[in-house]
Amino acid sequence: MSLRGLRILITSGPTREPLDPVRFLSNGSTGAMGFALARTALRRGAKVTLVSGPVCARPPKGAVVVPVTTALEMRRETLKRLGKCDLLIAAAAVSDWRVAAPAKKKLPKSAFGASLRLIPNPDIVADAARRRRRGRPRIAGFALETHDWLGRAREKLGRKGLDWIVANRVSSMGGPGTRFALLDRAGGRRVFPTMSKTRAAEKILAAIGDQCATN
Ligand code: C5P
Repeated sequence: MSLRGLRILITSGPTREPLDPVRFLSNGSTGAMGFALARTALRRGAKVTLVSGPVCARPPKGAVVVPVTTALEMRRETLKRLGKCDLLIAAAAVSDWRVAAPAKKKLPKSAFGASLRLIPNPDIVADAARRRRRGRPRIAGFALETHDWLGRAREKLGRKGLDWIVANRVSSMGGPGTRFALLDRAGGRRVFPTMSKTRAAEKILAAIGDQCATN
């Protein structure tokens, strides 16, 4: 399956929300899934832009990489590029909360309790879905769940206004393999066995890339 000419924007990795200049809130995302999707898409001829939170792994050669740190930066860099892509894949593990007022200087231990007022971050993929025109770009999100994984992913697909959602078991985080299902807005569902993230990226792009190219 060729993705030649398709412009794909991928959010990937975690975000970091500073508490002070040396500490932050984050999560265990390694960006492996986002990078696997980028690598596969590039191999199939797509043009790929990666808006990537801080990770250790090297991004695939050939992708345009936009490094970001916080959810607000990821949102700005993603929404800015929405009009120039055919498909947005939101694989990032965005921090749900940020510290209301990060300290300018390193906080003493004793000051922590008082300074940790958290406020919610905006939902990047839901904002992207609201802003698109005539259903373009097509949008795929991810959901990582500990329980009722298909039900909760279906609810997120509808609430965020996505075309597809990849439901993941929480065991997928940080590891080499993933067990996942692909749900679409028409009610369709395909459940896949455990496989490597590279293989999963091929399956996901084969299923959704085709529809972006032909519709
Ligand atoms: O709500 P939840 O975090 O489980 O949703 C996961 C999906 O939403 C992923 O595609 C993730 O990239 C996206 N997301 C986002 N902005 C947020 C939170 C999640 O784009 N603030």
